[in-house]
Formats: sequence, structure tokens, C-alpha cells
Amino acid sequence: MKKTFLALACASLIPAVSAGFDQTEEVARAKQAVAGFSAALKSELMAAMQSGGALRAIEVCHTRAAEISEEVSLETGMSLFRVSQQNRSPSNVPNDWQTAVLQDFKSRILAGEEAASLSWYAQAETADGPEFRFMKAIPTGGLCLQCHGTQIAPEVADKLSEIYPQDKATGFKPGDLRGAFVVTSRVD
Ligand code: HEC
Repeated sequence: MKKTFLALACASLIPAVSAGFDQTEEVARAKQAVAGFSAALKSELMAAMQSGGALRAIEVCHTRAAEISEEVSLETGMSLFRVSQQNRSPSNVPNDWQTAVLQDFKSRILAGEEAASLSWYAQAETADGPEFRFMKAIPTGGLCLQCHGTQIAPEVADKLSEIYPQDKATGFKPGDLRGAFVVTSRVD
């Protein structure tokens, strides 16, 4: 499975178009963008959980996740967002190549790899020119279960279904793949 996927990923790779483009450096920049987003969202999420519990923290995820990813995208010049095959927000549906990577992450977790250690990158041709693509798996941790787990408090569940009538992001256990960060950038 892993081999098949890698073969597919390699087929979509194109030779470096610009001598100045360094994939290793771009991977490092993408990882930094992800770390910046994660740290900012997590600290706001935890502060809200402490002051007003999960009910209050839903607002942070609802409004701040998209705002923070926009801020990070502006700062870094890379586009950063989150996707999940079991998405809560309708904006976080993965496209075809993102779904293929998520599937690969899932099989690697089944084969015994830790979700926290999984990432992937490639360079691909698009209608707008060559694009650098990076994804990093998002594992489910203990903190996440109040809103993504199997036993969600009734008032939290009510609020979630009010804001997200199509919510698919519940039923997760610690260590499960919750989704992934996606970072893309133009290759000049
Ligand atoms: C207080 C409730 C709450 C907690 C706790 C929480 N989330 Fe979420 N999560 C949400 C909400 C609400 C959204 C939808 C955000 C939006 O509208 O963009 C979301 C969306 C996401 C998404 C984007 C994909 C999707 O399903 O739309 C990921 C990935 C995610 N959460 C991971 C986590 C992880 C990992 C943790 C633990 C570190 C966590 N969440 C903790 C409420 C929560």
C-alpha cells in the first residue's frame, strides 16, 4: 500500500523548475508555519477551556482557527489550512490529492507508525504553475476528546450540532488520525 502510494506520488513529481528552489528549505518553512498555527490555536483553546469550559472554547475553534490560519498564511506567504475526511467544518473537506495522503497516513498508522510523526511533501504541476505541497498528520490527543471524542457533554453536543449540522468529527480515540495540516506555496 505504502509502495503503491509512493509510486503514485513520484509520478506526480516534476523536475525542479528553478535552480533557486530548495525543497528542504520549503519543508522547514512549512513545518514552521504549522508550528506557529498550532501553538497559537492551542494556547487560545486552552485559555478558553480554563475560563469557560468546552462550550466557550467552541467559539475559539469556530472563529479563530480560520483567522489564525489566514494570519500565518499572510506572514509566511504560504497557504495553510486543515482538512479531515471526518470534517466538522464544511470548509475542511480534503480534495483528491489530500485524500490520497490522508489514506496513506491511515495505513501507516495501522502499520504501527505514530500519527504525530507523519508528514509528506511533493512538488506538482497545477493550472497556475508548479506548486509545493506539504501535509502533516494531526493526531487526536486527550484535550481534543471533549469535542471530538466518543462521550461529549450534552450541552457541547447541542452547540456543535447547532453550528455544524453536518458534523462528522466525533467518535475519535486518543492516537487516531484527526486530520492533517496542508501547506502549499508557489514555486518561483
Ligand atoms: C472546544 C471544542 C474543541 C476542542 C477541545 C477541540 N476542537 Fe477541533 N474543532 C472544533 C471545532 C468547533 C472545529 C471547527 C472549526 C471551524 O469551524 O473551522 C474543529 C475543527 C478541527 C479540525 C479541522 C477539521 C474539521 O474537522 O473541520 C481539526 C483537524 C481539529 N479540530 C483537531 C483538533 C485537535 C487535534 C484537538 C485537540 C488538540 C481539537 N481539535 C480540540 C472544536 C474543538
